[in-house]
Amino acid sequence: MNNTPSSTTSDTLGLVGRRILLGVSGGIAAYKTAELVRGFKKAGCEVKVVMTPGATRFVTPLTLGTLSENEVHVEIFPENMSGSWTVHVALGLWADLFVVAPMTAQTLSKLASGACDSMLTAVALTVRCPVLVCPAMDHDMYVHESVRTNLETLAKRGVHVMEAEHGELASGLVGQGRLPEPPAIVEESSLVLSRVRALVSGPLAGKKVLISAGPTREAIDPVRYISNHSSGTMGYEIARAAARRGADVVLVSGPTSLAEPENVRRVDVISTADMHTAVMQHADADVVVMVAAVADFTIADPAEGKVKKDRQALSLSLQPTVDILADLGRNKRSDQTLVGFALETDDGLANAKGKLKRKNLDWIVLNNPTEEGAGFGPGTNKVTLVSRAGEEVSLPVLPKADVAEAILEYTVLGYLPS
Ligand code: CTP
Repeated sequence: MNNTPSSTTSDTLGLVGRRILLGVSGGIAAYKTAELVRGFKKAGCEVKVVMTPGATRFVTPLTLGTLSENEVHVEIFPENMSGSWTVHVALGLWADLFVVAPMTAQTLSKLASGACDSMLTAVALTVRCPVLVCPAMDHDMYVHESVRTNLETLAKRGVHVMEAEHGELASGLVGQGRLPEPPAIVEESSLVLSRVRALVSGPLAGKKVLISAGPTREAIDPVRYISNHSSGTMGYEIARAAARRGADVVLVSGPTSLAEPENVRRVDVISTADMHTAVMQHADADVVVMVAAVADFTIADPAEGKVKKDRQALSLSLQPTVDILADLGRNKRSDQTLVGFALETDDGLANAKGKLKRKNLDWIVLNNPTEEGAGFGPGTNKVTLVSRAGEEVSLPVLPKADVAEAILEYTVLGYLPS
């Protein structure tokens, strides 16, 4: 996922970083989907749209493609087809929630019977995520027995049905059949996802865990940057371990080459300022683990164009970046667990304890990249955990996945050293 939410987005709906696949079918209410796409984007979602051919007569793929910032798919076999024909499978795997709005009687009947004649109906068969349908049609169609039976069929399969609203219809009649307004559909989507989450079990079920990982990059000019060697592995392993224990995990990740862990909301960022914005949007988390190797300095005045080499020397003026963890510490709630990392090459324990206190943390994880078995790469790590209450736990060299398990057990699940 490549989703850097705007600085105005907060995660009140729990939708930041969620991937919404919107299926639009051909009814008059399709005109509302432009606002619906905007609503999902505003809530911090990444949105992709599939449409039935009929829907393109009410709203253009160009409109929804522009608003969603993603290509809109209509046919399974488009005329000027190039590339892969398995887009329907890829889209189905990609989505966190498939929302069909509006769903016409025709599309409903196809979904109920398993027909597969457009990209929308094809992805309906490939999605593994929850499905929310919003039927909209004229009142007499809406109450017709065949429509009711088809809706029941979908509901029995676990599809969430958002019933149509009562009101004035395109025909001029008044009755039930109107598509709910876009903000209501966005809210219902958030409810569906939280209901699905509530079914998840594990010691961290119902807890929101925010993890930062990887390096940040500070631009020198449009082609160069300063950064560090962090691979992101440690943070990704902690995210994976927390998700396995049932947590709602948000992973704010600097640039890495790692695959997205399952059941994790990943928000991609580049610079420290971006990471700060994204982390603060999730500062309501129950647990925050700042693993990222955040760049401490940024270029004071990055060049707009590429810096050319026709010069004797190049000096860069650096200024400190915001300390994200210190900001979290200043605003820490008493029921929140805040865990930091300390990367130290000298006087490790003393420096780590200083950071623990200065940044108002519950735990700090000390590691030394120059020690054998520790460091930035994908392999192993060697850490010492220090708590606010004075506990100290030194772990041996372990694969990073095991270090991640141990960090969660000590800092979040409360397995205290004996
Ligand atoms: N951190 C942060 N924002 C920064 C720098 C660091 O949130 N601008 C976080 C890191 O994610 C880590 C902790 O602070 O959890 C400590 O990072 P570290 O690099 O060890 O220490 P610094 O605070 O940067 O101090 P120094 O570089 O002087 O050791």
